[in-house]
Amino acid sequence: MPIFEWDKDFEVTVETFNEQHRYLVSLINNLYNEMKAGKGSAYMEKLLDELVVYAASHFQNEEEMMDKHQFPELEIHRNEHENFKSRLKELCKNYYNKKSKLEIETFQFLKNWLSRHILGLDQKYSEFFRGKL
Ligand SMILES: [Fe+2]
Ligand SMILES: [Fe+2]
Repeated sequence: MPIFEWDKDFEVTVETFNEQHRYLVSLINNLYNEMKAGKGSAYMEKLLDELVVYAASHFQNEEEMMDKHQFPELEIHRNEHENFKSRLKELCKNYYNKKSKLEIETFQFLKNWLSRHILGLDQKYSEFFRGKL
């Protein structure tokens, strides 16, 4: 049973972004399951690699779309994406420095991102795009 079930509250008006968000939810669920099985720290390298790729492409896709449609809050949104990327960089650094319990910190970080960003700022562009695409 996954810890996070995809809910319609997560939905945005751009299907590609829903797919990308679902992928992030699946990574969080994988992390949770690995932690439960006592294999959380072994999963971290793969997870961090996937998150780096995810952040680079998903954020770029969203920003390009917002830019194309002249979404007025693009800069605020871009800043939050940049914060995510810096925090992720920090987690990667901590991983290579063998910091312990990093999986718990990462789990919290992703969980907060899901509720704060995907249910927050991403919903704002979603509303803005409604009827425009
Ligand atoms: Fe976003
Ligand atoms: Fe997003």
